[in-house]
Amino acid sequence: MPDEQGILVIGLGLIGSSLLAALRKNGYQGRLLGCDRDKDSVATALEMQLIDEGHTEPQAMLSSASLVVLAVPVMTLPELVGHLAPSVRPDQVMTDVGSTKGAMCEAIIRRLGEMPSWLVPGHPIAGSERSGVSAANAELYCRHRVILTPVDQTAPTAVTRVEKLWRACGAEVETLSVEHHDAVLARTSHLPHLLAFSLVDGLARRDERLEIFRYAAGGFRDFTRIAGSDPVMWRDIYLANRDAVLAALNEFESGVKQLRQAVESGDGDAMLSILSRASHARHYFDTLLNQKSYQAMEQRNIRYRAAHGGKVQGRIRVPGDKSMSHRAIMLGALAEGVTEVEGFLEGEDSLATLQAFREMGVAIEGPHQGRVVIHGVGLHGLKQPAGALYLGNSGTAMRLFSGLLAGQSFTTTLTGDASLTRRPMDRVAQPLRLMGASIETAEGGRPPLSIHGKQGLRGIDYDMPMASAQVKSCLLLAGMYAEGTTRVREPATTRDHTERMLTGFGYPVRREGDQAIIEGGGRLTAGPIDVPADISSAAFFLVAAAITPEADLVLEHVGINPTRIGVINILRQMGANLELLDQREVGGEPVADIRVRHSRLKGIDIPVDQVPLAIDELPVLFIAAANAEGVTRLREASELRVKESDRLQAMADGLTVLGVEHTLYEDGIDITGGHYGGGRVDSLGDHRIAMAFTVAALRAGEDILIEDCANVATSFPDFLQLVNRIGLRVEEQTVDS
Ligand code: S3P
Repeated sequence: MPDEQGILVIGLGLIGSSLLAALRKNGYQGRLLGCDRDKDSVATALEMQLIDEGHTEPQAMLSSASLVVLAVPVMTLPELVGHLAPSVRPDQVMTDVGSTKGAMCEAIIRRLGEMPSWLVPGHPIAGSERSGVSAANAELYCRHRVILTPVDQTAPTAVTRVEKLWRACGAEVETLSVEHHDAVLARTSHLPHLLAFSLVDGLARRDERLEIFRYAAGGFRDFTRIAGSDPVMWRDIYLANRDAVLAALNEFESGVKQLRQAVESGDGDAMLSILSRASHARHYFDTLLNQKSYQAMEQRNIRYRAAHGGKVQGRIRVPGDKSMSHRAIMLGALAEGVTEVEGFLEGEDSLATLQAFREMGVAIEGPHQGRVVIHGVGLHGLKQPAGALYLGNSGTAMRLFSGLLAGQSFTTTLTGDASLTRRPMDRVAQPLRLMGASIETAEGGRPPLSIHGKQGLRGIDYDMPMASAQVKSCLLLAGMYAEGTTRVREPATTRDHTERMLTGFGYPVRREGDQAIIEGGGRLTAGPIDVPADISSAAFFLVAAAITPEADLVLEHVGINPTRIGVINILRQMGANLELLDQREVGGEPVADIRVRHSRLKGIDIPVDQVPLAIDELPVLFIAAANAEGVTRLREASELRVKESDRLQAMADGLTVLGVEHTLYEDGIDITGGHYGGGRVDSLGDHRIAMAFTVAALRAGEDILIEDCANVATSFPDFLQLVNRIGLRVEEQTVDS
């Protein structure tokens, strides 16, 4: 609760009186004072016991409060501030609730010469089409945002006191600059209100108005609810935030124009592209509101509590392959015709790729239960996105996009989350520049990337310094847009999904020894894609079953592409009991059901040629090593240090917590198997570290708490359901950070 000596609210409308109601309800002990020009409002507030004392003259009450909230219309606010300023004591703080900030601050500066240090401009993003003191609602600010826009002169202590006031009412407080606030609000609030007012006005002016209202159902009602809002207040907002509103209106008009053209010309694909992009964005907004999405979760700590022990029994299918899901969307979007994808991974990483193509004008239906339908636009049909493409946590997306965007005719910016922003992008930027591409990175070759699309890329002959399928794929995608031949030589075999899928789309890629070779100027033809279950996700279960007595588990329809089965080869060498059942080929990729049962594992020297083939599975293989007899040695795996986290360090730190004996090297680790305990480990926001330590709990002496697990949603959204289904006991705890 705020420790203020009395709080005075000037203006007893919905906003002011709801604040009083919230303070009262949440147990504020000091005196609540209210002031309004309208004496009936003051009387009602007293009657409702919202205030202890009321008056119609602000000056009369000013000295009795240490915090004053100016809940009057924006247009009258500067005058009120000017009027009160001479009487404000140094210990007093004021804040306002106006929905525009720029014009208000300017008007105050005109009156007082500068912004007073005791005034904290604020704006609660809450409201209702109802108004007046009788509409007071103690819950109005609960889980709503309040934006504060302090300026240089504002005293930091004043800001802290105002933050405390709003938090006491259940609000989430954030700070923006005045200009940023006004631009954002013009788009998210002022424009939609303007449209609602205008639509209702337009319809109501027509002769058949009675009929229109009689038959107007849900859509009209939902869209126009806000047209019942206070006209005077909204006039003032449009007067105050004129320029930002006009800018928002311009953007809106150009969007409507595009949709209009599509309707006029009966262009179904263009309509679908706009509508599905919007529909997806609206659903995404819902998940954000419900705090379900990864981006929202980034601000929260999802912690797993994995109970020690448990069994591993059953038959499951893990989600679709992440590498193939990204590529299916990319090639489907660039193909001619309609691509139907089954088994698509609905994880945050591949969804980021999907959304990025929507933003470049590709119509995509779904995903719905792993099914996605992509209306390809051809190799040269992408459109410039309106803003930067946000690729979340996905290094694969960023590196592959770099290649295919280098050959477009427009400029794009690629951004991502905090982890992605730390990852090296020079490994793609440098060879792309050799092809003639124009790419800027941030310092140290990190994201964001600015890719100035260019016609006239040239094929190159490139020796990759590291074994990376992402770099290889990036260059092959750029190679489609380049003149002549692009050859990429890999120092060790890496996953070849790009080559296989390109070939499946009718775009040949040759293989000569250690080189993948593509000619520019071809085309992609759409076709169906069946994405098998991801062996990288299956790996957690392979190890879980291998280390747990009496385990017997079947993993269905797992992709066993020879460039991905390092985990199977390594586990077998350690003595695991794995059977590949019903081996078959689906859409150019080998697939099998994998049965795995418990057996005694022994430590091995992991063959270096298996490292790139098991690169994503190594964290969970460390857990297998911790349960094996003797020492397991890994070398030439420094690539692990530049994944979603420094995986060598993250795993070593966690193993230390559990008491597993190990020695860490720059490019690897030695792990000695044996009994180990539990404790609190940090996944560092890396999905594979989080899932590896969950598996470790099966043989731990005590429970394992794993911090920072929200990121599991990037590759394996229903991981917790599946582990609990087969016999582990893992629960999720949400901790606000
Ligand atoms: C991937 C390649 C690998 C892997 C990543 C997915 C791909 O990265 O770690 O999770 O889809 O091409 P590198 O190619 O950088 O080793």
